[in-house]
Amino acid sequence: MTIKKALLLQALTLTTMMSPCGGEDIVADHVGTYGTNVYQTYGAFGQFTYEFDGDELFYVDLEKTETVWRLPEFSNFTKFDTQSALRNIVVAKRNLDILIKNSNFTPAMNEIPEVAVFPKSSVILGIPNTLICLVDNIFPPVINITWFYNGHSVVEGVTETTFYPKSDHSFFKLSYLTFLPSTDDFYDCRVEHWGLEEPLLKHWEPEIPTPMSELTETVVCALGLATGLVGIVMGTILIIRSLCRDGASRH
Ligand SMILES: *[C@@H]1O[C@H](CO)[C@@H](O)[C@H](O)[C@H]1NC(C)=O
Ligand SMILES: *[C@@H]1O[C@H](CO)[C@@H](O)[C@H](O)[C@H]1NC(C)=O
Repeated sequence: MTIKKALLLQALTLTTMMSPCGGEDIVADHVGTYGTNVYQTYGAFGQFTYEFDGDELFYVDLEKTETVWRLPEFSNFTKFDTQSALRNIVVAKRNLDILIKNSNFTPAMNEIPEVAVFPKSSVILGIPNTLICLVDNIFPPVINITWFYNGHSVVEGVTETTFYPKSDHSFFKLSYLTFLPSTDDFYDCRVEHWGLEEPLLKHWEPEIPTPMSELTETVVCALGLATGLVGIVMGTILIIRSLCRDGASRH
């Protein structure tokens, strides 16, 4: 076996270890985060999640002590021992107490969250859709995300994800609002976080092409077509003329 081959084999073994679920896709590297344990003193909040390539597989609802799969059908293929998550959170809580004392009770630094609002699918009047409020760079994981419809608070049709861990130890979170696109409606996603001096409102309203711009489009299209046609006619005339001139000079 040549050195090259041996290296290749070594590389493949490594990749397979990194990608226990990715059987087909041997070339790409995968990252499974098996058990992100989060515990914080504010509100005695803990979170236990499993991710694969940055996507959530499940979280453990610590109050109901049950595993909540990101997609319900995941539970058909695999199981998870919820008790092990609870044991881990107890350890995380104990370790945090020690760290707080060791750090001489230095408070955690607040990061400034970043907010973006966008629709899930392209907006068509009268077709139900979902608005997504993406809040990035969350630290610490204490936040309120609320929705406003035409300036009024809404709770119906709202769901949100857990805190998704990021490689820099901050988090991001998604909040969803189902809505029916209509020309006069507007929406706001409001974010409250200790890193913000005041609640941040991210505005969104559907961008529906106005009849005026449609008219402009038609005019531009018609003008373009007319120019094209004139070009063809002029070109034909010029060709015929030059052919006639050629014929004349030959005589
Ligand atoms: C998962 O199991 C449930 C109930 O056993 C079944 O209704 C569903 O179709 C299954 N889904 C998949 C993707 O296998
Ligand atoms: C979230 O809302 C609750 C209830 O209104 C409030 O007590 C809490 O301070 C808010 N949290 C943040 C981070 O602003």
